[in-house]
Amino acid sequence: MSMEQTKGLLKFITCGSVDDGKSTLIGHMLYDSKLIFADQEEALKLDSRVGSRGGDIDYSLLLDGLMAEREQGITIDVAYRYFTTDKRSFIVADTPGHEEYTRNMAVGASFAELAVILMDAAKGILRQTRRHCQICSMMGIRHFVFAVNKMDLTGYSKSRFKELEKDIKKLAIDLELENVMVIPVSATEGDNITKRSVNMNWYSGPVLLEYLETVDVSGQSNEEGFVLPVQRVTRPDASFRGFAGEIECGGIRVGDEITVLPGDERAKVKSIIVGDSEEDHAIGGEPVTISLDREVDISRGSVIIKDTVLSISSMFTVKLLWMDDEPLAAGRAFVIKLSTQKLPATVMRIKYKLDIDTGDKLPSEVLYKNEIAECEIALVGSAVFDRFEFHPTLGEFILIDRITNMTSACGVILHSLRRSDNIFWQDFDITRDVRAKSLGQKPLTLWFTGLSGAGKSTLANALEKRLYSLGYHTMLLDGDNIRMGINKNLGFKEADRVENIRRVAEIAKLMNDAGLIVLTAFISPYIADRRNARNIIGDGNFIEVYVNTPLEECEKRDVKGLYQKARKGEIPNFTGIGSPYEPPEEPEIITDTLGHDVETCVDELLDEIRKYL
Ligand code: ADX
Repeated sequence: MSMEQTKGLLKFITCGSVDDGKSTLIGHMLYDSKLIFADQEEALKLDSRVGSRGGDIDYSLLLDGLMAEREQGITIDVAYRYFTTDKRSFIVADTPGHEEYTRNMAVGASFAELAVILMDAAKGILRQTRRHCQICSMMGIRHFVFAVNKMDLTGYSKSRFKELEKDIKKLAIDLELENVMVIPVSATEGDNITKRSVNMNWYSGPVLLEYLETVDVSGQSNEEGFVLPVQRVTRPDASFRGFAGEIECGGIRVGDEITVLPGDERAKVKSIIVGDSEEDHAIGGEPVTISLDREVDISRGSVIIKDTVLSISSMFTVKLLWMDDEPLAAGRAFVIKLSTQKLPATVMRIKYKLDIDTGDKLPSEVLYKNEIAECEIALVGSAVFDRFEFHPTLGEFILIDRITNMTSACGVILHSLRRSDNIFWQDFDITRDVRAKSLGQKPLTLWFTGLSGAGKSTLANALEKRLYSLGYHTMLLDGDNIRMGINKNLGFKEADRVENIRRVAEIAKLMNDAGLIVLTAFISPYIADRRNARNIIGDGNFIEVYVNTPLEECEKRDVKGLYQKARKGEIPNFTGIGSPYEPPEEPEIITDTLGHDVETCVDELLDEIRKYL
């Protein structure tokens, strides 16, 4: 999001629950401002026959352009509209009010400077109103207009408006909203939208359009200095190395001394290209390619700065909006996209989630769709960032699901975690390589996964014996045993399994560092967690072994009698029965135990593993 303000342009968002009359309100504003073309007006009149107001014009049809939306009767995507009056130009993001589509609302909010929050005068403040305000505020909106709609249906009641105004002022204090304006309107009748209502003489404040035309949002930017996140390194020929991106804020001139983060190297600007032409300067919002007077370590994700300070960290506290259908469990790994940087990241802890109704901070292990929470995030590597309030683009992020590639969350960085800033990786002289060499082997982790009773422990045990007799140095980590020791505080809820696997992966990595070949036997039922384990241990050292024994067979064997108990309802989260198992999609090795004895399976495993040893 660029905070560069074009003079006279106001970017705003409209939020409201379904049926609050949001599209009608904007439609009316466009219509009354005479900003729609005649043929469009004709079309609208025709269309209104199928609209919801009988023969009258249904203004919402202006915005709800898509057939699908019309059929559903709800707006399903962000619609950006551009309009202009004598005093100002506007871009409005009309976003859906339906709970399902909070995702689109967050997108719209990240772009806007002001939010028009629509309320039904009869209904007052709803959960959804609070949620929308919280999302807008989190995404940096500092100006709020509450349009109290459907005043006509209250008989233009002054007392009802005053009552709502009081509720809104209280909400604003609770949510720490700044710059709040409350206007009584009727979107269908056109009261106080563009023209002063004759029905509400008791209201003396501005009408909606007038307020939008005059409100000053310029105090919004705290951005200082020059910031250019590098999008691309271009090298058209051997003599030129350019760094391309969009200037977030500030200006730059040829000859200026800049700093490149995260390396903290300095250089002078040699040339600036804006578009196709070489210039001696460039300003915020412009896409540029710059070259420097000396070789500096720069790649995509580096940030070039001048006259400002940014931070570098590997752990943050963040506020985020969870948007995925699947709930978030602490310990889950994602890809974080922060400005032009993309890094693997883990949500380490959900500190609390917000109760939408009361604003209370609730402790929680999981986060459901549309919930807002404060969390701690750890990165693999470190990122250049700033607090959202100082440089918004370097303080906002999205989390991308590694498997579906969907945006699972969006949020803002509150601050870095000091404990990460004060911990430094120590390099020792006796390295993994040295240890491995002295043992004469390549450290590996053989990660067995499969249902309970599939034969993971049996096979891992037999394979370890074989490797041991061949002279390899090994260690076996087994689910039941680890759960009696270091993981004895963990159970079988999803969040606990995530943490179980994360710890095992870290332990396996340490043992690999010690030069050992590690065999692990854990159900590890979730694809995401095995991926995370692969990430921690390192792709080149991680061999996923899927012990493919069908559920029926495991249940028939039932060595520990647990399936029987689970069927009786005595173990609620038992894998395969009350809790899912996600088979690997591309394991390095699959072993079928059905109809094969242990020794045959081990022979086959050893054959496959040899190429990695
Ligand atoms: S994992 O899902 O977190 O990877 P892990 O491999 O450590 O599980 O532990 C699985 C073992 O715990 C099983 O073999 C079984 O003996 C025991 N167990 C107890 N309760 C459960 C349960 N609800 N689901 C699966 N295994 C359970």
